[in-house]
Amino acid sequence: MAPIKLENVSKSFGNVNVINDISLAVEAGELMVFLGPSGSGKSTLLRMIAGLETIDSGALMIDDVRSENLAPGQRNVAMVFQNYALYPHMTVRDNMAFGLRNIGMSADEIDARVQEAARMLEMVELLERRPAQLSGGQRQRVAIGRAIVKEPKAFLFDEPLSNLDAALRVRTRVELAQLHNRMKATMIYVTHDQTEAMTLADRIVVLNNCRIEQIGTPMEVYLRPASRFVAGFVGSPGMNFIEVDLAGDGTQIARLNDGSALKVDIPEMAPGRYEMGVRPEAIRVVEDENAEEVTTTATVGVVERLGERTLLYCTLADGTELIATDSGRSETRTGDQVRLAFDATALHLFDEAGNAYHVH
Ligand SMILES: Nc1ncnc2c1ncn2[C@@H]1O[C@H](COP(=O)(O)OP(=O)(O)OP(=O)(O)O)[C@@H](O)[C@H]1O
Ligand SMILES: [Mg+2]
Repeated sequence: MAPIKLENVSKSFGNVNVINDISLAVEAGELMVFLGPSGSGKSTLLRMIAGLETIDSGALMIDDVRSENLAPGQRNVAMVFQNYALYPHMTVRDNMAFGLRNIGMSADEIDARVQEAARMLEMVELLERRPAQLSGGQRQRVAIGRAIVKEPKAFLFDEPLSNLDAALRVRTRVELAQLHNRMKATMIYVTHDQTEAMTLADRIVVLNNCRIEQIGTPMEVYLRPASRFVAGFVGSPGMNFIEVDLAGDGTQIARLNDGSALKVDIPEMAPGRYEMGVRPEAIRVVEDENAEEVTTTATVGVVERLGERTLLYCTLADGTELIATDSGRSETRTGDQVRLAFDATALHLFDEAGNAYHVH
């Protein structure tokens, strides 16, 4: 399987710049996810790798070969789309074999490859069916099978699961992860769904506004987001952002607008006004009235019971809103006053430019 490298790649449609000087390297056998909101350039980037869009400037290396000027067919990568576009009048077997027959491969070789792909995808018993006789998830597997039989240097997936219902999406996601483990293939997977990115990726490229915000493992992106944008985009429910004043006397005391204060252990911070980022799971309800760790008190609005935990949509005295976490068996109700403790090891500060600083 092949590494893929982009070096200083840019692209405009007319005078609109959609990819701006992007460099990244996907290692051989890696599952890399491009994550970003709608319009952030994910599909364009993937299509440039596949050869379906031209590259204005910069270099593309596939398997260490300069590839930006190669025709799509010469790049030997396989793309799987959201719309799997199977031929309705052909069986699963013929759908998978079609591309191989077109390039004149021997019937024996085609049979062997289709059989192997069907085995891998657990579809052997579906080979003689037509697409209309398959579920959505099975059709998507045929589309993946059509890519597998090509034995490409890399697989490129553009939101392949977004046509499936929620339960099937989760199942197919797990199957894809298993497939990647078995095949050890280089895969690039585009999605705007941060859960999909977190669960599938070896590493995530977070895209925003035609630029890379961060490249990192799921936990790096989650625990040490490189920017305010990444912090807000990854995680569900999202990170809380709370305005604070950082005192300039070396104590690193952050004061919230409701007057409460807590120590933020980031020595290099200059005094001033910041946004403090805290994930909901790092703000917990404290029962004990005299507990030392209490940061502030809040009034509970909506209570969301998720089974294993409870989310509390809270308002501080000054009107600041935040989401806190309580245990699954929480008896807290709308209108209650609660004491909240902020986990001092899980605080982030963001300056006006959106740069991130994390506690050490
Ligand atoms: N053929 C085109 N002509 C002009 N603009 C385009 C073209 N294709 C894409 N764009 C623009 O480029 C930007 C990036 O589009 P792209 O399809 O790569 O986004 P995306 O991240 O895949 O979004 P989504 O999650 O909605 O699929 C968008 O602003 C889009 O409008
Ligand atoms: Mg897209």
